[in-house]
Amino acid sequence: MDIEEWEQRHTEAFYDAKEALPYLDGMFVAYNSNIDAIRHLTEEDLSRLVGLFDEAEIQDRVAVYPREIAEPLDFVARLLISMREGKAAEVPAYTAETHEWLKEHLGFDYARMGGQAGIISNLLARLGLKKVVAYVPWLSEEQAEYFADSGNILHPKVENGQVLLKPPGEAFKPGTGSKVNWILEFSKDLKVTCAGSTFRVPRDNRLIISSRPKWIRLDMDKEIYEQLDSLLPIDGAMLSGYQMIKEEYEDGSTYNDYVEHSVKVIDKLKSLNPDLRIHVELTSIQNRVIRKAILTEIVARHVHSLGLDTVEVANALNVLGYEELSYSVIRKGENGIMSLYQGAVQLMKDLKLERVHVHSLGFYICILAKGHPLTLKEQRDALLFSSVLAAAQALNGKIDNLTEAEAGLEVPVSAKGIEDLETFQLYCTGRKLCTPDEFEYGYIYGPDHDAILIPSKVVDRPKATVGIGDTISAGAFAAMLARMKQRQAGK
Ligand code: GLC
Repeated sequence: MDIEEWEQRHTEAFYDAKEALPYLDGMFVAYNSNIDAIRHLTEEDLSRLVGLFDEAEIQDRVAVYPREIAEPLDFVARLLISMREGKAAEVPAYTAETHEWLKEHLGFDYARMGGQAGIISNLLARLGLKKVVAYVPWLSEEQAEYFADSGNILHPKVENGQVLLKPPGEAFKPGTGSKVNWILEFSKDLKVTCAGSTFRVPRDNRLIISSRPKWIRLDMDKEIYEQLDSLLPIDGAMLSGYQMIKEEYEDGSTYNDYVEHSVKVIDKLKSLNPDLRIHVELTSIQNRVIRKAILTEIVARHVHSLGLDTVEVANALNVLGYEELSYSVIRKGENGIMSLYQGAVQLMKDLKLERVHVHSLGFYICILAKGHPLTLKEQRDALLFSSVLAAAQALNGKIDNLTEAEAGLEVPVSAKGIEDLETFQLYCTGRKLCTPDEFEYGYIYGPDHDAILIPSKVVDRPKATVGIGDTISAGAFAAMLARMKQRQAGK
């Protein structure tokens, strides 16, 4: 694969998307936003944290693999697991004590907008979309301040039974508390010693301690649901945060109730605009019952597009009954990328999706159902656009506007990504899934699906990793919709 050619394609795709974006009328983005308290961990932090506990106890807890942070020992254990594997993870904490403990023993470097819907809303607004309608069921006054001050983000607000769209600063619910998540970022090569063994962190990544206050409900206010048409015109919806759903609530309701409401919202959105495309952005979901329900009951048959990373592909396959494939995605190794591809195809088929976008370090894979609305070149260019955005985000830790995003163009395409794709090319041409020529363009015309594989731009020393996946998914989805609208306009 010619790296220079991919650089060139990135540049062209970026400017093409820039021209197409003004064709969008609007995007609806829901549900989760929170405040991220971000802390970059150093080796000193690590030895201090480990020093607070008995190392044998830490080891025992690592073996237990806690799926919830009930006490500080769970936290240190999950942190060590994440660092050892270099894998992103998000673990819930249901009590305020964890928060207090972290404040006292660690503290944070800075706070910023968090939550997939919060991050995506701000990004789309800063890319200059005409209108971004954000909806956060627990919008507090403090949370509202974290939205971009760009004038194009609106949030529904009920006034005298009427739903109006207002800037978030005028739409919050007085008396609502704030949800603060802890983001522990760690860099590649950081040295960690615990209980006599030492390892180095294999790649930049983060552990998220997600606060889940009791009052959080993943739901939509009744009036807003009933007057959903007041959000229009919108071309697409990006939905996330379903991981917040619990199996059981104190008032006797269960996850089934919240799943049912979520599906109703999706159905209503589609009935209001039959051309509307719906994307769900997945994240790490510890509870397997909830993970399965989200996939098989909310995503399957109802939405068009799914965005996720490699670990999430493996976790999704696992609850859908593809254990072996799931392990082979996780184990990576020689067959890693092949399994990832097969796994993504399986998700598209099982969940009846139009599009599955997997972001991996160094390359993206997008599986498309036959009959998807654009050419493969247009689909590819939407991914390339998002690769530039991700690079800009990693480089500067933020993107204030499209002009600033151009900084991403200077970031080189990942040589490792190219290498991985070349391994895949052998597999693919060997099985006659594609010709070497098609592959050079990043296209695969499969028997029952199409696919795009692109090498992506990767920043060597990212400012932070949190939110990069959201940037990739949102950038590509918006660019795809924008191109669809541009075509409708005959351009
Ligand atoms: C999840 C986390 C949030 C973080 C986001 C980044 O939504 O809960 O803290 O900002 O992921 O993708």
